[in-house]
Amino acid sequence: MRLFTTVAGLRCYLKSVQKKQPVATDSAESTIGFVPTMGALHTGHLSLIERARQENQIVVVSIFVNPLQFGVNEDFGRYPRTLERDRALCEQAGVDVIFAPTVAEMATVPPIQTRVQPPAEMMSGLCGVVRPGHFEGVATIVTKFFNLVQPDRAYFGQKDAQQLAILQQVVRDLNLPVTIVPCPIVREPSGLALSSRNQYLSDEERIKASALYRGLSQAEKLFRSGERVSATLVQAVKQELEKVPSLQPEYIELVDPMTLKSLDTVTDEGLLALAARLGSTRLIDNTILRDR
Ligand code: PAJ
Repeated sequence: MRLFTTVAGLRCYLKSVQKKQPVATDSAESTIGFVPTMGALHTGHLSLIERARQENQIVVVSIFVNPLQFGVNEDFGRYPRTLERDRALCEQAGVDVIFAPTVAEMATVPPIQTRVQPPAEMMSGLCGVVRPGHFEGVATIVTKFFNLVQPDRAYFGQKDAQQLAILQQVVRDLNLPVTIVPCPIVREPSGLALSSRNQYLSDEERIKASALYRGLSQAEKLFRSGERVSATLVQAVKQELEKVPSLQPEYIELVDPMTLKSLDTVTDEGLLALAARLGSTRLIDNTILRDR
């Protein structure tokens, strides 16, 4: 496994492997699978890496805590940075290349002057309400990474459903030559969705946080029994969250998973998404409701 911290190093490596690969044919296609991350890797990230490993000849993982996507009062400073541990996990998972640039190398300080601006209506709801500028920061850095790595496939978790929908739109709108592969949410046995931010939770908070999944599961149960009215499905989640008074819901909403437009009733499929605060930690989770 190689680790590059500079754009020049990464580009040089990619050029050399592309030269070594046989000319791509249908049967012996040489592809690059890319997994963008902010590090502090956990089993959720590893599930994306495993999928990329299965489907591509070369697997590139980026580790970069992206200042462009953090608000001024957010956790950029305290976000966990565990490069040595991440490196060992990537090595075990059969990653070919880690790209872990410095902030200076990605030219995010001083701020880069060209930004990728996803559709306002996809950024105005859900997490966008309390995180202005966040998705623009994600879209800009991910587009930069796509240009650097030039992957055939890029792997993203359904855990960040709004991020996934927005990036799919950016790829469609700008004809970026990459296939986005959505990957299912990996959870702890308690149901709590894995997240690098779970490290901020105390043991007691971790137990409390599992109410998010119980809420979503209640709504799934109602949906399977035929309920299609959003307000009723949202209310089922709310009721479950109210059982844990220290859990402060920020939003619980049912939207179209592709357009993120609010749904009054679910016809084909709906994204039931929520965010809640627990102490100083902000947690998000979601589930897709669809007929099987
Ligand atoms: P990060 O939070 O490190 O997540 C990297 C990828 O792992 C994302 O696609 C995210 O959805 C996925 N992921 C996180 N937890 C998961 C879980 N429990 N199950 C499945 N997948 C999970 O998302 C980002 O970084 C950044 O915004 C990034 C895209 C790297 C741009 O900076």
